[in-house]
This record gives sequence, C-alpha cells and structure tokens, in this order.
Amino acid sequence: MPRRLRWGMVGGGDGSQIGGAHRIGARLDGAFEFVAGALDIDPARGRAFAIQHGVASERAYGDWRRMLAKERTLDPGERLDLVTVATPNSTHYEIANAFLAAGFNVLCEKPLTTTLAEGTDLVATARAADRILAVNYGYTGYPMVRQARAMAEAGQLGRIRIVVAEFAHGSHADAADDANPRIRWRYDPDQAGVSSVLADTGLHALHMACYVLGSEVTQVSADFVSSVAGRELEDDALVAIRFSDGVVGRLWASAVAVGQTHGLSLRVFGEQGGLRWSQEEPNQLYWTPLGKPTRTLERGDATLSEEAARASRITVGHTEGMLEAFANIYSDLAEAIRAGRTSQDPVRSSVRYPTGEDGLHTLAAVHAAAQSARAGGVWVEVPTG
Ligand SMILES: NC(=O)c1ccc[n+]([C@@H]2O[C@H](COP(=O)([O-])OP(=O)(O)OC[C@H]3O[C@@H](n4cnc5c(N)ncnc54)[C@H](O)[C@@H]3O)[C@@H](O)[C@H]2O)c1
Repeated sequence: MPRRLRWGMVGGGDGSQIGGAHRIGARLDGAFEFVAGALDIDPARGRAFAIQHGVASERAYGDWRRMLAKERTLDPGERLDLVTVATPNSTHYEIANAFLAAGFNVLCEKPLTTTLAEGTDLVATARAADRILAVNYGYTGYPMVRQARAMAEAGQLGRIRIVVAEFAHGSHADAADDANPRIRWRYDPDQAGVSSVLADTGLHALHMACYVLGSEVTQVSADFVSSVAGRELEDDALVAIRFSDGVVGRLWASAVAVGQTHGLSLRVFGEQGGLRWSQEEPNQLYWTPLGKPTRTLERGDATLSEEAARASRITVGHTEGMLEAFANIYSDLAEAIRAGRTSQDPVRSSVRYPTGEDGLHTLAAVHAAAQSARAGGVWVEVPTG
C-alpha cells in the first residue's frame, strides 16, 4: 500500500460552497490526508475550522502567505504533495502561482484565472517549476462522462459531426435578487471580468465537450444577452463553436432558465451514432447506434470501458454523484503524483484530470466569445496547441 499523500487547502472554509466537496473528494479513496490549510479570509475562523477537520494546530494557518512560508521549509517527509486553491476567482492567480513557484503541485478551482495573461503565466510557472497544475472541472470525473470519452476515442460514434453542450440553470432569474451582493458582483465587469455566466458555469460544459471529443476550440461566434435589466454582463449566452477536427459545437449557458436546477448536459452526434448524458441523471448514458434503437448504458455495468470502471466505486444500480466525481479528479492526481508526472510531461491520452492547459484553453475560448458578442457575433479565432 503506497503512503498517503499529504494534502493542503487554501480557501474552502466554513460555509463555503465548494470546500466540503474537496475535503470529501480528496479523502474518499484514502489517497490523501488533510494536513495543512489556510481556509478562510478570517484567520481565526480558518484556523479553528482546520483544527476541527483534524489538521494539527501548527499547520492550521491564519493566512496563505504564512502557510507557504512555513510549508516550503519542511522536510520532504512532511512536505505537501498537493495544494488545492478554492478561494474566490480573482485570488487564484496569486495564490496558485506562489505555491507552484515554491515547488508544490496545485489543483486550482475554476476559472483558472480572471485574465488570459495571468492564465498563461500560471501554466508557464507550472512548467518551469516542473509541477502539476490541474483545474477543477470536476464534472469530467463522472464515470459515464469517461465512458462517453472512451467511446468517442474508440470510434464507436464514427466521425463526430455535432456536439451540443449546456449548462443552463435558473438561479439568477429573479430580478429582485440583484440587490443581493452575492449575486450582484457576478454581473459587475470590475469583479467578474469579461463574462458572467459563460465564465462561471458555461466553462464546465465547454471543457466537457473538449474532454469527450479530445478536441480544442479553434473559433467561436457568440451572442450574449443580459436579460435582467441593469446587468452589465451576460446572464444568457449562446456560442457557436468550431473545434479542431471539424466538429461543430453549440453551447448554451444561462442563469435565467427557470425550472432547470443545475442544467449541465452533453449530446454528441457522430456519423455512426449519438450519445446523451445529463448530470441530473448521471448514472445513465444513452447511446443510439445509427439505425438501431437507443440503449441505456448503466454506470457499473461490466461491459463498460476500463475508463468508466476505474471511476466507479459501487455496483450497478446504486447511485453515485458529484462528490465521487470530484474524488475521481483527486485519485487521478494521486496516480500522477505517485508516478512523478508533472505539467511538463503529461502523456495526453493518459491524463484524465483537467490540466492547467485545459483551464487556459477554455478561458481563452470564453474571452474570444466575449469579444465576438461585443462585435455582433463575428467569428473570433481561439489559439490552440
Ligand atoms: N468546480 C465547481 O464545480 C465549483 C463550484 C462552485 C464554486 N467553484 C469555484 O470555487 C471557488 C470558491 O467558490 P465558493 O462558491 O466556494 O466561494 P465562497 O465565497 O462560498 O467561499 C470562498 C472561501 O474562500 C475563503 N477565502 C477567501 N479569500 C481567501 C484568502 N485570501 N485566503 C484564504 N481563504 C480565503 C472564504 O473565507 C471562504 O471560506 C471559486 O473560484 C468558484 O468559481 C467551483
């Protein structure tokens, strides 16, 4: 049994939306133990919460700079194997960059950074330091998303023609909510950047399409709408996409789709068949071979791909969900760290976790979409490679 990897966290404190999913995901398979953290903007709250989660008092920090200063001096036998950054978006760059430069592997929350210049710099820092930089597009950890990727890769759909990706929810549909500061900042360009809903949730759907296809975005044409009066940034976005390999993409991201709860789904249409997957029904993948009836592929079934099998913990028929999807990102990272792989030498086909490069590429597509929408939907090139 290999030793447990030492894991630390910045952000994700008491009451945060996503911190708990990381703590469960990192520990679910026993690969990581939680040994250090600066979890909160409030030093006392952050220390107390870390200690409550079993972190030793001397490694429960009041702020991340202090954490970095101490952790970088520790012996290899105590040093952190991975640091997760789960703070608000505008702080990702500074924190992730500092940990990478000091030689730590980093899993950063999405969006990787708020500007392309910072994203480019972060990827370069990871490469220069020869460390892993991953970005938490956690939904690609679902077993049936991995099954879809394996089927597309194996050619079971033939040449892929069209992909339709959606992340359309109704959480910001009530105009009265705009008085709420937790909602208002998302539509303020000074705090959110060039895009609201596409950069916040549409990014997940965009990356999932790239992940399943194994393709990159080469061009986008976007239509952004601020459907609630007074919002400066978009609360609904429709993006036409051209992928490498000639695949055509349609992406819809919305925050005003009343009645849709989470609304993440992917449909892939190839010359030899189609696939449909929805996060709200994550254990089923619907496969329609051309000219044949639709088959329901069930998570845990013995006939699925090795990729789907390794991402599944329980037998067929039982339900598995988002926490386990995050756990798969952590187990992929554990495997890479144990193998001594870094961002410098990812063997693309064997890297299952979303990389810093993936985070940067999807960010570049969002920035190109914002540019396109401002220019009336003209096609804008997206850098690849
Ligand atoms: N991958 C996903 O599915 C997913 C889902 C939700 C949020 N997110 C991302 O996770 C990040 C955090 O989002 P959230 O919704 O949990 O935010 P949140 O506001 O609920 O929590 C942020 C946490 O970070 C702490 N924090 C803030 N500044 C800090 C600092 N300088 N040092 C240490 N701690 C600090 C806060 O005290 C709080 O505990 C964002 O980047 C967001 O986009 C990702």
